[in-house]
This record gives sequence, C-alpha cells and structure tokens, in this order.
Amino acid sequence: MPENTHMKKVVVHSALPEPLLQQLRQHFEVAYFPQIDETHRAAFLHALGEAQGLLGTGLTVDRSLLAAAPALKAVATITVGYDNYDLPYLNEHGILLTNTPDVLSEATADLVFSLMLATARRVVELADWVRAGEWRANIGPAQYGVNVYGKTLGMLGLGRIGQAIARRARLGFGMNILYYNRSPVPAAETTLQARRLPLEEVLAQSDFVCVILPLTPSTVHLMGAREFSLMKRSAIFINGARGRIVDEAALIDALRKDIIHAAGLDVFEQEPLPVDSPLLAMKNVVALPHAGSATHETRYAMAQLAVENLIAALEGRPQNLVPTSTASAAVKPH
Ligand code: 8YV
Repeated sequence: MPENTHMKKVVVHSALPEPLLQQLRQHFEVAYFPQIDETHRAAFLHALGEAQGLLGTGLTVDRSLLAAAPALKAVATITVGYDNYDLPYLNEHGILLTNTPDVLSEATADLVFSLMLATARRVVELADWVRAGEWRANIGPAQYGVNVYGKTLGMLGLGRIGQAIARRARLGFGMNILYYNRSPVPAAETTLQARRLPLEEVLAQSDFVCVILPLTPSTVHLMGAREFSLMKRSAIFINGARGRIVDEAALIDALRKDIIHAAGLDVFEQEPLPVDSPLLAMKNVVALPHAGSATHETRYAMAQLAVENLIAALEGRPQNLVPTSTASAAVKPH
C-alpha cells in the first residue's frame, strides 16, 4: 500500500506475528521495533515523537518516555498488568491505555497450578535427580512430597486469573478455597464455596498461599517477614503476579529458616532473576521465567487483542480501557 500521509502513525516496540503487523499496517503507518537496544533507541525515540499510537510489552513507560511522545492518543499494552505505565501522566494528557484481559486467564492459571504441583510433589528436584543418574533404588521418605488434593488454598486476589486457579483447585483437586480480596466475589462463594477472610486469617489457615493480585501502591511488599511468619511451617508460597508484591529478602529468610516449606515463583523483584539469587540454590524453590501467559496460542491471542484495541481506540471506539484516573493504581517504577 502506498504511504498515506493522512494515516495515523503508531510505534510497535515488541515483536509481532506477521499477520498482526499487516493488520496494523492496513490502518496506520507503522514504525516497527521488534526490540529496542542501543542501536535502535534514537530511531525509536524519533518515531515516538510523531506517534499517535504505541503498542508493545515489557517497556517502562514513564513520564520521561511519554514526554517524548507529544502526539500520543492511545497505548495498547500486550499484557493484562499495567504497573509499568505512568497512569497519572496518561490521565492528565487524556491518553487512552488498553490491556488484554481474559485471553490469558486460563493459560496463566495452568502455569500457576503447575507451580503448586511442582513444589508440593518436588517435580523439578526429583526429575533433576533422575537425570543425574541418582535413581538406584526405590525412593523413601526423604524424597516424598505432600498432597495437593483436599488441602486448603489461600488466594491473595480473586480476579479473573485467581478465579481460574480456584476453579481448578476446587473442582479438580477438591481443595478448600479461602481468599483475601478488596471486594467479595459472590460467584466464587456460590460455585466454589470460597470464603473471604482477612489477610492474616488466610495466611494462618492455608496450606498453599497463592498471590495473584495487581501491583499497586497498596500491594507493594504486601508479603513481608510478618506475613510469612503467620503462615504454617508446612505451607507452600506461590507467586504468579508481580515480584514486587513480595519482599524477596523476607521470602529468602523465611525459606532459609524453615518458616515456610517451599515456594513456586514465576515473578521476581528483579527480572531476569540474577543468577546469583539465593533462591536458585534452594531445592525447595521452583523458579520460572515470568512464563504465566507464555503459550503460543495465548501470546498470539494477547497480541491480536492489543492490535484490535489500538485500532479501536484510534478510531474513536475504545475497548478494554484501563482506568487511568485511579491514582491508587499507579506504582513508581523500580
Ligand atoms: C506478560 C503479564 O505477557 O499480562 C501480564 O500482565 O505479566 C504477562 O502475561 C509478560 O509480562 C510478558 O510481557
């Protein structure tokens, strides 16, 4: 298609599948940066200076970056979480922000559930042991795990992904569901017999504590030394949300001192997780590379939804809007 001078300009700062890139190009003049390293940074900033739309994932979109985008009207993140965006700035400047809810809930719930199974049944540790040629006789109590079926699961957060996890736990594994959430979730109380309790009660009564809350100023370091000390010594801690909801030093301390039994973690305060993190030396820790939504189908669906969101927003019929005016949803960049 010949370049149309009336076409709106958008910047894409992540790799996109070719058909989705084509779809965007039918609507906009696209400056495409599958990655932004030092060699592309100047060109990226130049393109940003003229862009009405921005689409991608994994970039800290703070005040200084946004100040370089004076024509910006809409931003489409290829994520459900949006803690890396300066919401007050977007709000002040009337810039729309869209996200990708729903399409990743089931895949993320699968991955989080795999962390529960892997930590309880020591799947990674035992598989490594077999691979190392150590399996010479029947295993004994030193390598036994603990049951998942019928245990109590404490959900910190019961939004879309949390409910998908709780559904697996209740209907597939006969687990009792407790939850800590800003507001009650009547559907989960009816269909999953989930019980809403104060944080301290959820921590004290659960065999698995699973964090699946958004990162906001009120959830930064929600889990610290005091909270880990309230958990059962036999309990397993799971984080599938954001690393900064957990005081990682306190978590490391709780694991070292046997204050809790094990941890399954998909997210960390610093990502990629530094190779010298003490967590990597612990056999009772299963660490994954922020892979919650990382299936071919789901990542495609997220990118597709983000593309549709950007087209809709710039054509004046926005969908999947994030409420940028909720000042409490803004978190200072790390
Ligand atoms: C992202 C996520 O895909 O959607 C989110 O909020 O955390 C993931 O699904 C991940 O951040 C990779 O960009």
